[in-house]
Parts: sequence; structure tokens; C-alpha cells
Amino acid sequence: MPRKALIAANWKMYKTPAEAKAFVDAFLPLVAGHDRDEIALFPSPVLLPTVINAAKGSNVAVGAQNIHFAEEGAYTGETSVGQLLAVGGTHTLIGHSERRQYFAETDEIVNKKLHTALKHQVIPIVCIGEVLAEREAGQTAEVLKTQITGALAGITAEAAAPIVIAYEPVWAIGTGKTATPEMAAEAHSIIRGEVAKLLGADVAAAIRILYGGSVKPDNATALLSKEEIDGALVGGASLKPDSFSAIVKY
Ligand code: PGA
Repeated sequence: MPRKALIAANWKMYKTPAEAKAFVDAFLPLVAGHDRDEIALFPSPVLLPTVINAAKGSNVAVGAQNIHFAEEGAYTGETSVGQLLAVGGTHTLIGHSERRQYFAETDEIVNKKLHTALKHQVIPIVCIGEVLAEREAGQTAEVLKTQITGALAGITAEAAAPIVIAYEPVWAIGTGKTATPEMAAEAHSIIRGEVAKLLGADVAAAIRILYGGSVKPDNATALLSKEEIDGALVGGASLKPDSFSAIVKY
């Protein structure tokens, strides 16, 4: 079975509800009938009901940028997986490098969040990737192995099917510096190899690995035509309907 690509929009801390609604209204006609790839939008929590309602019945899924690992509790400022499901969200990002960098998320926290998402049938996109100093020191493979091993701790092959991984080299995020398709494909092979060791060859062959980091309409085709690259996680270029739809339709 070929892996169906997933093209995901990470809106980060951008857009008001009115802007989010205007995006969806303009975007849906641009991707109507597109079923070669799955499409998902990841807005801020406050935008979720607006975006989910606007996208209802379409080919566009909606998820959170982050969830807490606890099911509920005294965690001021956090969003639970139950809250996400209650408003109709189906996916969540986990361990984005900005969460790791600015909110002290560790591989251990990422792992707890992954367990919670899977338990509640929310589709998780687990983000991993090296920083520039690690790449320059030749540590990329080691860093990716450590992150993927940490993220997947205690996950069984039976439970792993919904997991999506996003390889996002931190030095490529929001910088305009994209990994070359060859660099990305090499990292994806390392990740897939590690998943094979941890969860077996079948899971590794089926798991989708997205690339993220300065994906734009003009580099999407080169990246996404690599067999190893099963979709994209797009930040800046996902904020406008025309540029995000151009990536979807690479
Ligand atoms: P970028 O962000 O496309 O703006 O580099 C990607 C991401 O952070 O997921």
C-alpha cells in the first residue's frame, strides 16, 4: 500500500477567528475534490471551533498544535485531548520544536502526550529534528534516533498505526533555509530505519514521515516527489489560501 501523503498547516500563533474563517472559505474551493493527499489545519485552540465548523463536511481535517498529557486537571493554560475531541478536532501536533525550545518539552513529555493521543484516537504528528549545531557537529542521526526512541517508548506495533512523524530540522524552520530533498530523504531513511528497529518492518513501511521547514510552493514538488517524503508540515506558507493550496497540489 503506498503511503497517502498528508499536507498540514501549522498556523502557530496567527489569525483571529474572522481571519481563520476567511481562510477556510477561500481555501476549500481551491482544494475541492482533492483526494490524492490528506489535508489538515492546525490553528490555535481559540480558533478550533470556528475552523472546524467552517471545514465541516469537507476534505480538510482540523487539529490542535498541542495537547496536555493529562486527561483533565489543574493545568492552567493547557488544552486536554477530551476538549479537542469535544469540539470536533481529530489530529494534534506533538513536540514541535517551538514547544521543545520555548516550553521545555522533553522527549519524555512528548512520549506521555503520544500515549494520551493514541488512547483517545486522536491522530498524532510527532515532530523531531536537529538544531544547527547538532547538524554541523555530525550528530543528526544520533539526535533523531534519541528523539524517536524517546517518543515511541512503550508504544506497541499494534497501537502505532495512526502515528505520523514530522522531520523538521530546527535550522530550517521559519528561516527560508530548506533542507535539500536529498538531505530530507536521508533523514527520513534514518527515522524509518529506527522505527523498524523499534516497532518492526511493517510499521516502518506504513508510517508517514512528513518534512517541515520552509516548505513553499516553489520547493514543494522537489521535496514531495521524493519517495521517502510522505507529506509536509508547513508554517509560514500555510497562512495564505493560495500558497497553501499550491503546496497541497504540488
Ligand atoms: P515554516 O514552519 O514552514 O515557517 O518553516 C514549519 C513549522 O514550524 O512547522
